[in-house]
Amino acid sequence: MRIDILTLFPEFFHSPLGVSMLSRAQAKGAVAFRVINLRDFTEDRHQVADDRPFGGGPGMVLKIEPLVKAIRAARAEDPRVQVTLMTPLGPVFNQAKARELAGLEHLLLICGHYEGVDDRLRFYIDEELSIGDYILTGGEVPALAVADAVTRLLPGVLGGEGAAEEESFQTGLLEYPHYTRPRVFEGHEVPPILLEGDHARIARWRREQALSRTLARRPDLLAQASLTEEDRKFLQQLAADAGGR
Ligand SMILES: C[S@@+](CC[C@H](N)C(=O)[O-])C[C@H]1O[C@@H](n2cnc3c(N)ncnc32)[C@H](O)[C@@H]1O
Repeated sequence: MRIDILTLFPEFFHSPLGVSMLSRAQAKGAVAFRVINLRDFTEDRHQVADDRPFGGGPGMVLKIEPLVKAIRAARAEDPRVQVTLMTPLGPVFNQAKARELAGLEHLLLICGHYEGVDDRLRFYIDEELSIGDYILTGGEVPALAVADAVTRLLPGVLGGEGAAEEESFQTGLLEYPHYTRPRVFEGHEVPPILLEGDHARIARWRREQALSRTLARRPDLLAQASLTEEDRKFLQQLAADAGGR
């Protein structure tokens, strides 16, 4: 997969794309990142990519011309590219959306900055995405969040680091708890079942932990989760136990 990021601040991405999973995914050839400087699509001598808002008010707005020029260049190079604007106005990104994007050949993430982008950009993009109900300084952190969540789902990326299939949200549930040595830390013990070596029992215990954590912390997720009959019985038992207390 190819992930392009269009930004006024290319240097922002140097370190995050150069370490850990994102760097290894590139080295393995699972993903190719390209950070594109919006200023390369300006036409004036000073490479100005922003301007004051019509109607007055604070801040600057990213100009439409360089943004559209960059989108057209990307589409001319690869008509399959999906153009996504990072904006707090978009639907909120989640694991299901990450899975959908991981199935694409080519994604272009556009980072707004200052007060945002000229609103007419919506006529030239394929979709908008927010990463949550808060305002960040620019679209760089949101683009990185999307690039990271998508890349770890690409075939061969996680390898020995853990299976993406079991992670929180992937199954529609929060993940079960993890522990490593020591067995006892300041009086807090690792659940004994994890030390017994019975893999079937451990798998069931983990499933039940995932179910009970999800019920306690994010009950909203349960409506969409795919649950077995055994899962449902377990949840009913939890609810009955809670009701009896
Ligand atoms: C300071 S924000 C602009 C906020 C805008 N004035 C508003 O009130 O909606 C600058 C840029 O950061 C990005 N951004 C900020 N928060 C975001 C979020 N929660 N999700 C996605 N992008 C975000 C967008 O690209 C946005 O154009």
